[in-house]
Amino acid sequence: MPVPLGFAEVDSVLGGGLVPGSVTLLSGEPGIGKSTLSLQVAMHAAAPGAGVVLVTGEEAPAQVAARGVRLGEIPPSLRVLDNTDLDAVIATLEDLKPQLVVVDSIQTMRASAVDSAAGSVNQLRSVAARLVDMAKRCNVSVLIIGHVTKDGTLAGPRVLEHLVDTVLSFDGDRQNSLRYLRAAKHRFGPTNDVGVFEMTGRGLLSVEDPSDHFLVDRQPGAAGSVVVPTLDGRRPLLVELQSLVNGGSGMGSSVSTQGVPTARVKQAIALLSRYLSLDFVGTEVYVSAAGGATVNEPGGDLGLCLSLLSALHGQRFPAELVACAEIGLAGELRSVPHMERRLQEAHRMGFHLALVPESAPTPPTGLTLIKAATLLGAVDQLQALRQ
Ligand code: TYD
Ligand code: MG
Repeated sequence: MPVPLGFAEVDSVLGGGLVPGSVTLLSGEPGIGKSTLSLQVAMHAAAPGAGVVLVTGEEAPAQVAARGVRLGEIPPSLRVLDNTDLDAVIATLEDLKPQLVVVDSIQTMRASAVDSAAGSVNQLRSVAARLVDMAKRCNVSVLIIGHVTKDGTLAGPRVLEHLVDTVLSFDGDRQNSLRYLRAAKHRFGPTNDVGVFEMTGRGLLSVEDPSDHFLVDRQPGAAGSVVVPTLDGRRPLLVELQSLVNGGSGMGSSVSTQGVPTARVKQAIALLSRYLSLDFVGTEVYVSAAGGATVNEPGGDLGLCLSLLSALHGQRFPAELVACAEIGLAGELRSVPHMERRLQEAHRMGFHLALVPESAPTPPTGLTLIKAATLLGAVDQLQALRQ
């Protein structure tokens, strides 16, 4: 049975908490906030009778303490151990018998039996195997932090994924304060929940209502703006897509994107050119998922096309409209997974109209569906709405 850590957003990604004796790898790029998150987890979990040990090879105890001050107060049941010698660390842990051990990071730990430098693949494997063994033997939960680079190669925690019970990834755009925690592998529960956090001056705060967060400064009905009910794992999120189209003077056109894959934007432009005869030649196209959100799934296709159309023609859509469909290369609207959940979320956030494929399920009361079979049909329906 999982034991809650007491940090609700993290517990929910883990399906309740950490199972005693289990080993979890928390991976992410340097600087993204792994040490902050794990210290917050450790501070939440530490309680009288539930000791927590933070093994820190990256930072001196004074640095950990300084971070702790920003995050609240480090409870006495949280011990900070600055040692990179794995044999000594394991001996101490066997002695202290904590409920949770956090190792920050695995790249700094060294097992003396292996004759290579800390951070090498052989060390990573050996240190992880020893920690797994210790976790099972002492029935203690272990959270291991590992750095990865974007392509996942340099630092090597990928080689550990099969050794551990759970792999959590922590990521986000560093230009922006939002961070996402996802379970990439989870032996004890679902893998498709996402936890959303904001990095603040006082550590990571849960973003309890991400849709509200993403829509907060929206100008309803602005040109180029369309709201899409997207899906991150199983969690529906409403995100505003915005487009701006400039010029028509240059020769080649350019596409710049933020939070939306460039390839999907190019495909949307190709669909609009082919099926609606829109002309993007020589234009500069900017597309963004507002508020630092990411829309990286086909359910955003229709919204993307409408946003581009709206930006090109200055045409505005009703402020209470959401759009959700994948668009095939033949210009047909296709259904996307969990449409019901997406429509529920749109309804919850106060939207009244949803432009969807023919196959969409019955919506919640108060949400009217506008069904269309093709992109052209969808645009015609919107035009009819204006008359
Ligand atoms: P850190 O947890 O050290 O990242 P990682 O362990 O993944 O390398 O934190 C990275 C950034 O977070 C760092 O630039 C400082 C910032 N930060 C805040 O903005 N607020 C805070 O309360 C803390 C502790 C850190
Ligand atoms: Mg760190």
